[in-house]
Amino acid sequence: MNKVSIIGAGNTGATAAHWLAERELADIVLVDVVEGMPQGKSLDMMEAMPIIGKDVKVIGTNNYADTKDSDIIIITAGVARKPGMSRDDLLKINADIVGTAATESLKFSPNAIFIVLTNPLDTMAYLTMKMTKLPRERVIGQAGILDSARMRAFVAMETGVSLENIQCYVLGGHGDEMVPLTRHSNIAGIPLNEYLPADKLEAIVNRTRKGGGEIVNLLKTGSAYYAPSLACVQMTEAILKDKKLIVPCAAYMNGEYGLNDMYFGVPCVLGAKGIERIIEYKFDDAEKAMFEKSAASVKETHEALKSLVTL
Ligand code: APR
Repeated sequence: MNKVSIIGAGNTGATAAHWLAERELADIVLVDVVEGMPQGKSLDMMEAMPIIGKDVKVIGTNNYADTKDSDIIIITAGVARKPGMSRDDLLKINADIVGTAATESLKFSPNAIFIVLTNPLDTMAYLTMKMTKLPRERVIGQAGILDSARMRAFVAMETGVSLENIQCYVLGGHGDEMVPLTRHSNIAGIPLNEYLPADKLEAIVNRTRKGGGEIVNLLKTGSAYYAPSLACVQMTEAILKDKKLIVPCAAYMNGEYGLNDMYFGVPCVLGAKGIERIIEYKFDDAEKAMFEKSAASVKETHEALKSLVTL
């Protein structure tokens, strides 16, 4: 059985464990700083397994030694922004948490592939790669699958068409400047910008860009976790099964799309080695402009990180 360790057993981490266990994809270790909580959640999940007949072990722990020999490490540990906390304060706190999670995990699983979920996502993935010194194939940020799934859900709500016929591609940074590609997105092969009138499409694009905030406003005490965790489970499955699945992920840019030394959401081929290839779309001028705006915004957060942490 494969082994997946999840650092941070909060909403996203525990729900990722739930989706993974339910699919019998791997034995799972949930790690958290809070004592008892990961142990309690994992025992509860173990007690659910007889009901669905899935033979996976779920272990909760406060000790990284239990993550030994994991195939994949998923990092969701972090804190949410609280009133009075600046973006830089949050960046510093989460950088410390994610940096420790990454380096501690690597000690026990030197061959693992890392999937990072903690926000600000692109920058936390960048930090993880720099701190672990791993090749870019093995440090992947989750964002694009979630943003694309949100867009697909909104298109389905608008059109009443089956989700199975709806493909959407959202690239770029995981923030308000993300890049929903309406020309490449389609319903049963028909480009979205032909299928939907411009005003409806624009509303969907805007709602997608603010998708995370919409849920925060409704929940009031936290952020989305069902869709983010399932997105990261899809990445995990693609890697464990060597599927060569093309999905948008945050990847380290090494000249692709004219970008360098930063993480950014682009279509990646996911297989046993992690990111096996990056696919470059041909953009028109409007798409290129959106892409560059988003890249500038991500780069700014990377620079803020570099001023706070020595990498
Ligand atoms: N080591 C391990 N776990 C930690 C650490 C640490 N140093 N610091 C905090 N944690 C744990 C918390 O105890 C908590 O259980 O991380 C968990 C975070 O869980 P939640 O607060 O429920 O947050 P969640 O909704 O899961 O989001 C986590 O993922 O999607 C992103 O924006 C989101 O950055 C956020 C992260």
